[in-house]
Amino acid sequence: MSMKKVIILEFAPTADEIWNLDHNDIDGYANYDVEKGLVSILDTAHDAKPRPEILAVYAGGKATNVARVIDRLLDEKSNVKIELVTFLPPPQGIFCKLQPVKLNDVEIMPSTPSGMYVQALQILDLVNVRPRFEIIDELQGPTAIQATRRCIEMIIKGTGTSLNFSPRIIWTPKTVHAVLQKLEKLVSNVDMVVLAGAPPIWKPVDNESITPHDFYAEILNLLPPQCDVSVDVRGYYLHKCLFSKKLPTFIFMNKNEFLEASESWKKLNKGNFFGTIIVHNKDGCWVWDKDIPNTDDLFNGSIFYPSPKVEKVYSTIGAGDAMHAGFLKEWVSSENTEDRLSRSVIYSQSVSAVSVSNERATHGIDAVAVDQIFNKIYNKNY
Ligand SMILES: Nc1ncnc2c1ncn2[C@@H]1O[C@H](COP(=O)(O)OP(=O)(O)OP(=O)(O)O)[C@@H](O)[C@H]1O
Ligand SMILES: [Mg+2]
Repeated sequence: MSMKKVIILEFAPTADEIWNLDHNDIDGYANYDVEKGLVSILDTAHDAKPRPEILAVYAGGKATNVARVIDRLLDEKSNVKIELVTFLPPPQGIFCKLQPVKLNDVEIMPSTPSGMYVQALQILDLVNVRPRFEIIDELQGPTAIQATRRCIEMIIKGTGTSLNFSPRIIWTPKTVHAVLQKLEKLVSNVDMVVLAGAPPIWKPVDNESITPHDFYAEILNLLPPQCDVSVDVRGYYLHKCLFSKKLPTFIFMNKNEFLEASESWKKLNKGNFFGTIIVHNKDGCWVWDKDIPNTDDLFNGSIFYPSPKVEKVYSTIGAGDAMHAGFLKEWVSSENTEDRLSRSVIYSQSVSAVSVSNERATHGIDAVAVDQIFNKIYNKNY
């Protein structure tokens, strides 16, 4: 089997942090109202200064999460080369004098301080997946500050709730064109492209045909005919992909996203669709292979795979990303046998079961624990 090449595209580079905020009547947050879902935090006018404990710092973004999980599952034997491609702003001021630095196989690129921080976190997190950093000169100017971000997940200790702050990534139409041009070159010899999460947003200018809604569909149209595409994107972004010239090969979505897309299934022409749809929730996965949902009875016609039993659920954060990653790992590293799809689905469920049932969520995923669950289910059914 020849070496397969996969690229995962990260348009929303992130440094993720998890903070733990304890309850303190004077200093910390004051109250959590379970019924209303409201957390109150004392303001500084009340002399309060929340002092959260920093629990974790890592490279984030939906696509990066998928790459990070694949990285943990791949072994040296896998005959596949996977790159995580991240789009970053150029350096400013004196930093323009910096030169790229090669570290093992990775080229660290001069960027903004926050762009360099994201690179450092990715390099530390990824061993088998190779990060690749693309500097987009058009990411300068007033929107440069929104080209990378820090996302904060603030856990309110002991309450089972959290607050999440995730700034939007903002581009200009010029950035979009520059990225598409760069992508055209990048994708010419790849076997699979992975799209996950919402794209950046921008204000389209007059006479511009491209909008954030059709950005992913535009990417599909750039790809060579033999290139597979796996998407975990929702709403309009997905809808546009379903009606682009080239259609996705794999579509991942949770049950709510699936129901939200019911208008798309109605309009989609069954004869044109050769992909696979994988819908999941805590109960299991519904799979349509080279087929689309029946609009009168949505789930009829799908193959159902029940979720592996999980004793205690610690955290479902990133469970969907873990599932996407697990599927891709198994699919790209296995031969084209008859059971390839069912193997990959069951493997993906085993990965998310490990993810939800350990305290470190996606960070606690390990290939041995995944294989144990996988072998149990697979050997029972096949
Ligand atoms: N409470 C749970 N019990 C058992 N398994 C679960 C539970 N929640 C999630 N899972 C497993 O994780 C998989 C993916 O979870 P979910 O459907 O919540 O993803 P999601 O909503 O796409 O999440 P995200 O995109 O935020 O990562 C499920 O199909 C299931 O296998
Ligand atoms: Mg999801």
